[in-house]
Amino acid sequence: MEFLSRTMTGECLKQEMSTDPWISIPDEVRELYMQAGRPRPLYRATRLEKHLKLKKVRLYYKREDLSPTGSHKVNTALAQAYYAAKQGKTTLVTETGAGQWGSALSYAASLMGLDCVVFWVRNVYNWKTDRRTLMKLLGAKVHASPSKETQTGRKLLTDSPNHPGSLGLAVSEGLEYAEGHDGSVYCLGSVLNHVLIHQSIIGLETIKQFELVDDSPDLITGCLGGGSNFGGMALPFAGEVLQKKRKCQFLAAQSEAAPNLVKGDYRYDFGDVAEHTPLLKMYTLGHKTEMEPIRADGLRYHAAAPLMSALRHHNMLKAVAYPSDEKVIFEAARTFMQTEGWLIAPESSYAVRAGIDEALKAEKAGEEKVICMNISGHGFLDLQAYKEKLGID
Ligand SMILES: Cc1ncc(COP(=O)(O)O)c(C=O)c1O
Repeated sequence: MEFLSRTMTGECLKQEMSTDPWISIPDEVRELYMQAGRPRPLYRATRLEKHLKLKKVRLYYKREDLSPTGSHKVNTALAQAYYAAKQGKTTLVTETGAGQWGSALSYAASLMGLDCVVFWVRNVYNWKTDRRTLMKLLGAKVHASPSKETQTGRKLLTDSPNHPGSLGLAVSEGLEYAEGHDGSVYCLGSVLNHVLIHQSIIGLETIKQFELVDDSPDLITGCLGGGSNFGGMALPFAGEVLQKKRKCQFLAAQSEAAPNLVKGDYRYDFGDVAEHTPLLKMYTLGHKTEMEPIRADGLRYHAAAPLMSALRHHNMLKAVAYPSDEKVIFEAARTFMQTEGWLIAPESSYAVRAGIDEALKAEKAGEEKVICMNISGHGFLDLQAYKEKLGID
């Protein structure tokens, strides 16, 4: 805790440990949310329903892709940047996997007049050159991780010069960098309680939107790497399930490259490779486990958020892992684009794959069902992956 109080924002740490049922959104953050496009729409996927020949199943999707930098990550980036600026910090330091979190924090830092330093998992840094440009355009310094900026990175590069990097490693580098630079504060993009709290705006809005159309989801699907987009969507609904106000099931879609909820053990583990974080009780594959790179690299994290792990442990959350060649994932994304018209992030395509699979299952069983899919981001800066995976020249 002593280390964390030196490297993280005071208000975020307070929220991390809070037992208050509600934490107010500061007015300034609320205004920033509106500027960033909140509330974000909930759509009925009527064209996708028609394409799948659904008669009994209704499909909806929540549009977190309609965000300035392309994903839900902006929801916590704005809150974290606001609290850091209020505490007099000058620089936000972070890790990023898919690059969506790095872009979101670069954006939030820039709006708050702060500097931003991003450690980006090397194998993604190398191919997402346009997203790198976006971060730099927002004024951020971006390093491929492992990097020469930290002891952890330098050591790894000596042993393995072509190391592809991992989220756990980038977290270690960010924490080490923040501790060594005055005025810096470390901001995490997923996993921790305060991040999921900030993301709960997604589910809170969705509850109201379903009320407006007088419908209610029986099943919510989302992709889950560390757990922030799915936690943000599912937790407000899960709260009502626990209070016996509604019935709803939750299904997390993952990759076999990082099936933390499907194959992990429920135990205490570190959140990063260099063991800087406190031990967190999570479904984990082990913080030193090597995971094969995939195109939806935002899902390649060794453990699931403690809150989502607790839901899983209490049998309120189910999980499925799709093959790491990602064939069926990109096919689902193409179907979604050709029916609903939106190009979604590779990560979000897992939510759609799971939604389609569950819809077809229910339809076959003659079951009436309402399914809601959380679309965590857009795919405009992931076209390289689409070209490669769908063979487009
Ligand atoms: C668009 C998108 N969706 C989902 C994720 C997975 O993270 P989380 O499980 O924290 O939502 C990422 C991570 O980078 C992402 O960029």
